[in-house]
Amino acid sequence: MDDLVSLCKRRGFIFQSGEIYGGMQGMYDYGPLGIELKNNLKQAWWRAMVYENDNIEGLDAAILTNPTILKYSGHEDTFTDPMVDCKTCNQRFRLDQVPEHCKKKDLTEPRQFNLMFKTNVGPIEDGSSFGYLRPETAQSIFTNFKNVVDSSSKSLPFGIAQIGKAFRNEITPRNFIFRVREFEQMELEFFVEPGSDEDWHKKWVQKRLDWWEKQGIPIESIELYDVPSDELAHYSKGTIDVMYKFPHGLEELEGIANRTDFDLGSHTKNQDELNISADVVENKSSNTRLAIQNIETKEWVVPYVIEPSAGVDRGVLAIMNEAYSVEPLGDGKERTVLKLMPHLSPIKAAVIPLKKNNEELVKLASDLKSKLQKLNLGRIILENTGNIGKGYRRHDEIGTPLCITIDFDSLEDNTATVRDRDTMNQERIAIDKLPEYLIKNING
Ligand code: GAP
Repeated sequence: MDDLVSLCKRRGFIFQSGEIYGGMQGMYDYGPLGIELKNNLKQAWWRAMVYENDNIEGLDAAILTNPTILKYSGHEDTFTDPMVDCKTCNQRFRLDQVPEHCKKKDLTEPRQFNLMFKTNVGPIEDGSSFGYLRPETAQSIFTNFKNVVDSSSKSLPFGIAQIGKAFRNEITPRNFIFRVREFEQMELEFFVEPGSDEDWHKKWVQKRLDWWEKQGIPIESIELYDVPSDELAHYSKGTIDVMYKFPHGLEELEGIANRTDFDLGSHTKNQDELNISADVVENKSSNTRLAIQNIETKEWVVPYVIEPSAGVDRGVLAIMNEAYSVEPLGDGKERTVLKLMPHLSPIKAAVIPLKKNNEELVKLASDLKSKLQKLNLGRIILENTGNIGKGYRRHDEIGTPLCITIDFDSLEDNTATVRDRDTMNQERIAIDKLPEYLIKNING
């Protein structure tokens, strides 16, 4: 973990938020390379969900959330963690995360602590008008259920996908970006006929494992945890956690839950007229029926929900951890290389003129950069530092799959040297053929 944290800061992936004032616990900022990696991961998820499935639609809803939503979702009452205070060091911990050195000391009785951030909405600060920063993106998918069904004519099974920020006032944020107070989620709510839910649950677990493998997380680094009933969230009939071997231990990367008809059943009007199986609180506030009419029987059905919910930040950490390697180069030297899948790499290719002050070389390299950038594969940079060896080391360390060097021969024969990050092999390729070469090697 220390090596990763150091690389992230040194190369501009992730910084502690507000570092110049001592930082703030549980908050991180993504730097120039981190934002590229994070965006690439989110895009890969969006493509796999929304573009590759005609029965999945996207959504981008507000973060500030009406408290009524979180009352009926159960979050106001149940989204809590037990916490204890250590009377010796005056620190507060989650009950299951008390450090060894405090365990034998004087601890207070556990108290329930709600993890949601509350904030004033509007100019009056007397608490009469407030909202929550959403603790999960899921709830706005449920409250927009009818809007999406009506506007996109969906029938079961279908899904709504959303990527966005979520906030939790974690008692003990820790392990770098693993447990933070402000993070991003990639959540799919997949609505199915009651009765078909268990089959769909299994299908989604497999689909999600396949997807993580394509992002560079092999199945050997993952264990599935079938969450026992006494640990399930209040909405879940069954949850499979995708556990990854993070540098600090085996922990949850993604949860795939069978939320039954709890959420739509909780937020719908006319609950009595619907055959809701989950144990829901009476809803006197909703003005919308959240159900779908069966075309043949004309009966209203409250769909069950299968929810694959992944953390973007945990994804970034797992992917970087998996990609990070240190290789011997001979002569006692070594190189650090980030073997990211090319579609996730922050920079897809670096175009490097051999001499930084040679106008002809720089012009040819700069024209090539512009041409390759137009392919829309992601970021291509012109690396004009004049030190090829240093350039290669830097690009190995940040995971750039290809370095393209323009030298004096390039001016004569219109070819360039392309160096592969993983094998370090170099080959001479015609500049005209480079767009095709990049499309093949970056997109796979
Ligand atoms: N809508 C369901 C839900 O929010 P969750 O298991 O509480 O379920 C889903 O969260 C995912 O969000 C987790 O698997 C994890 O990847 C990520 N996550 C949750 N809390 C987090 C935190 N404090 N910091 C970073 N990621 C977090």
